[in-house]
Amino acid sequence: METALRIQEEYNGDALIFFGFEKEDRLLPGLQAWLAGEGGWLAGNSAVTKFSGSAKSVRYFYPPAGVSGPVLILAGLGRRACFGVRELRQAVASAVGCAMDLEMVELGLNTATLQDTGLDITVAAEESVSAAMTAVYRFDRLKTEQEERKKTPTRLSLLQDKKPVDTALGSRLDEAVAVGQGLHLARDLVNMPANLATPEYLAETAREMATRHGFRADILAAEQIRELGMGAYAAVFQSNPEQARLIVLDTHPDRALDQTVEGSHAPLVLIGKGISFDTGGISLKPSQGMEEMKGDMGGAAAVLGFFEAYGRLGGGRQGQRRVVGIIPCTENTPGSLAIKPGDVVTSFSGKTVEIINTDAEGRLLLCDALAYSKQYTPMGIIDVATLTGAMVVSLGPRIAGVFAEPAALADLVRRVGERVGEPAWPMPLWADYKDELKSEVADLKNVGAREGGAIHAALFLQRFVPEKTPWVHLDIAGPAFAKKKGDHGISGGTGFGVRTLVELVKEWPEKD
Ligand code: BES
Ligand code: ZN
Ligand code: ZN
Repeated sequence: METALRIQEEYNGDALIFFGFEKEDRLLPGLQAWLAGEGGWLAGNSAVTKFSGSAKSVRYFYPPAGVSGPVLILAGLGRRACFGVRELRQAVASAVGCAMDLEMVELGLNTATLQDTGLDITVAAEESVSAAMTAVYRFDRLKTEQEERKKTPTRLSLLQDKKPVDTALGSRLDEAVAVGQGLHLARDLVNMPANLATPEYLAETAREMATRHGFRADILAAEQIRELGMGAYAAVFQSNPEQARLIVLDTHPDRALDQTVEGSHAPLVLIGKGISFDTGGISLKPSQGMEEMKGDMGGAAAVLGFFEAYGRLGGGRQGQRRVVGIIPCTENTPGSLAIKPGDVVTSFSGKTVEIINTDAEGRLLLCDALAYSKQYTPMGIIDVATLTGAMVVSLGPRIAGVFAEPAALADLVRRVGERVGEPAWPMPLWADYKDELKSEVADLKNVGAREGGAIHAALFLQRFVPEKTPWVHLDIAGPAFAKKKGDHGISGGTGFGVRTLVELVKEWPEKD
């Protein structure tokens, strides 16, 4: 979707959107002005003055025969007392949904009505664009029957009453579009079935993106991963080594050698779990609902989505923060060569791991990625993973669990998540539970008791984090994939994590 800032009078698109609050008699100023001018054909129409304005409500009006101009769409903001960014996003989604039903392609949104909401105008404009992009997202590329496809809006203009157009606002809108594109990519990757979104497909996505944005992409296959000594990761793909790809993305590879500027070479490392399909392996999952496990690369998708957004935002340029992505990918399948419960493997860190359950495979990939990141002397590490069913049991399907060391980072993630509509709640790295991971035969085992499973998984990962490195672990098993439509738009992949990563890269504390 494109976006532009334009003057209301010059707008000649298909639909024009205005908002209204519930239980307020007066019309919002933008609408008032429009009715007094071009919208004269609608002035005095009681359906406009009586518009309820209740949350998510929407009405539309076609101009009468002989009058040219856009269709007017009114969308409700709910009660002013309960109004915030989330309600604005929902109103935009309702309006855009209505425009989509009417097969409108070019939409206009009057900013004077945004101004009246009391929100900061830049935030309101940015969130409107972002919400519109979320609402237009569809995944229909695998449908061949045309009647199932509808036209979708391709352009959203924000309309101002007077000249000159605010250029600062314009660049914020471009940012919202960049992040929206990152989200679309992440959602596509999750929605694509595992026979198409293979590890090689993810690798190709990374290569292509690196070329476009001037990043470096290194892709390692099974043999190279084994040679590096990533025995825990290799255990997961040993039943199907052709399916292994380790993706390493670097926004500023030149800085790796540039030790002249203190700290400038230290990147923020983002790690994403890239299981293209999780059958559970020999510890096979039940078949009911197993198709959702095509989304077990939701962490990888979030990291790739982040890099797409960051690249579009100019993240590869001088003066921008260096970010390295480490994305271990593979399928987790059973087979005659597959790892078996009780097998012991040697991880990249040198620690030995007894694999009690082959379905706890994510932590085997991530522990090697975490240990591998040490060579970058990272200023911080964030891993994102659809790691445990236990996390979904704890917080339900919409909230991610956040584990962090130091703990203050978990609060940062919670605050950022709340702001961008990706809720994350702090979880404890409670040291007493470490005993759960004691093995009789190896340094540690990959699962503990069922109860508290998300915490055990996080404690397992913590053992592999390079010393003294700030670390965040985001378990997105719940919110990465939605069974129903909602604030994230259609059901399926939600792109959860992309916006949080964009914000964390901006706000990550500098080293003292
Ligand atoms: N990919 C799953 C976790 C998951 C569950 C993601 C539901 C999304 C929705 C993970 O690899 C897994 O299977 N974890 C096991 C761990 C257990 C064997 C200790 C689980 O949570 O059951
Ligand atoms: Zn699993
Ligand atoms: Zn998994």
